[in-house]
Amino acid sequence: MKILLTGGLGYIGAHVCTLLQSRGYRVVIVDNLVNSSKQMLRQLLAIDSKNPPILELLDITNTKDLEKLFQQHDDLSGVIHFAALKSVNQSIQKPLKYYHNNIIGLIELLKVVEARSLPLIFSSSCTVYGQSDVLPITENQPFKPSYSPYGFTKQMGEQIIKDTTSTNEQFKAMSLRYFNPIGAHDSALIGQWPINEPENLVPYITQVAIGKRKELKIFGDQYDTPDGSCVRDYIHVMDLAEAHLLGLEYLWSSKSNYYVFNVGLGEGVSVKRLVKRFEEVTKISINHRITNPREGDVPIAYAEASKIQTQLGWIPKYSIDEALLSAWKWEQYLDSSGLSIDST
Ligand code: NAD
Ligand code: UD1
Repeated sequence: MKILLTGGLGYIGAHVCTLLQSRGYRVVIVDNLVNSSKQMLRQLLAIDSKNPPILELLDITNTKDLEKLFQQHDDLSGVIHFAALKSVNQSIQKPLKYYHNNIIGLIELLKVVEARSLPLIFSSSCTVYGQSDVLPITENQPFKPSYSPYGFTKQMGEQIIKDTTSTNEQFKAMSLRYFNPIGAHDSALIGQWPINEPENLVPYITQVAIGKRKELKIFGDQYDTPDGSCVRDYIHVMDLAEAHLLGLEYLWSSKSNYYVFNVGLGEGVSVKRLVKRFEEVTKISINHRITNPREGDVPIAYAEASKIQTQLGWIPKYSIDEALLSAWKWEQYLDSSGLSIDST
């Protein structure tokens, strides 16, 4: 079976690609390299050259290119939609860029996918909940008004997909609300590869550990949390990858049209604790200081994770320590190989 991954050269898409390849699926990757590099394809080939993904370089906001792509690949069994811009900060500075890319991109994709009734998985985020009144966060918690255009694109994206499934009995879709994906593939040949200064915590920690950056700033320690720093639900990216495959399999045999699942371990870990755990597992001390809180950060978010386990049979295999170690191995690989994300 052939699966299309939009944004498949990005962090999560590339990991899902390796999983699909290893299970014998053919993969078509669509990407415009706005936040990735062709080097990622070479890394994917280094992991598995026997069943290589097909790369189609195009922008999903381009209707004509998308239509042509789906005519060319008329034997698809499903689509996983990762392609989006994901910087919360940048989305506040450049809202139109985010609404255009994430919403127009989704709408154009939906037109071709719905017309063919192809099962669709959508990369959503726990950001849709804002600061939930209830912890752990269940899927039926209401959306809170988002503080960022990025967050709004995920809320709107889910609504647009849900509304579209309600008009076509044959069209099925699922929104996966990721909590905080971290870590890298077991081979350490792919991982999270920020083009600019990392905004996410774990790549920042590993870059400080390798000496690329002087210090980690911990954004605030006066929150109403056990140690004052923010609490998140970190999940290994390969466990997250598995959730996509289970999701697709579920859609192929499901009766209903639209599903929503949290994907997290259900374990709340503070920023300070995560840094400590990294130091413990790697024996490297991380130079850090406490700074002002980052605008828009919610104090606590962790999942009630049982729905996906019960309904899809998803069983996470990796601990947070294993995820941290894998991220560290990837950073070391990047350092020793001299690879650069700009290498085309
Ligand atoms: P990423 O930036 O690494 O990957 C996204 C990929 O999509 C990139 O390769 C980029 O070049 C491509 N892309 C973006 N716009 C495109 C367009 N118009 N046409 C074609 N390609 C385009 O991001 P990621 O971390 O892999 O995230 C994947 C998805 O998961 C995103 O939708 C993101 O919002 C969502 N998500 C990520 C996280 C996280 O912490 N990484 C958490 C929750 C949700
Ligand atoms: C963020 C987005 C989320 C998005 C995800 C994708 C917010 C609130 N949420 O998740 O919607 O889907 O990124 O990239 O922005 N931290 C530091 N120092 C750093 C970096 C982070 O202390 O240098 C802290 C943050 O304050 C946060 C935690 O580490 O408490 C995790 O941060 P991050 O990895 O950016 O993820 P989120 O902010 O949870």
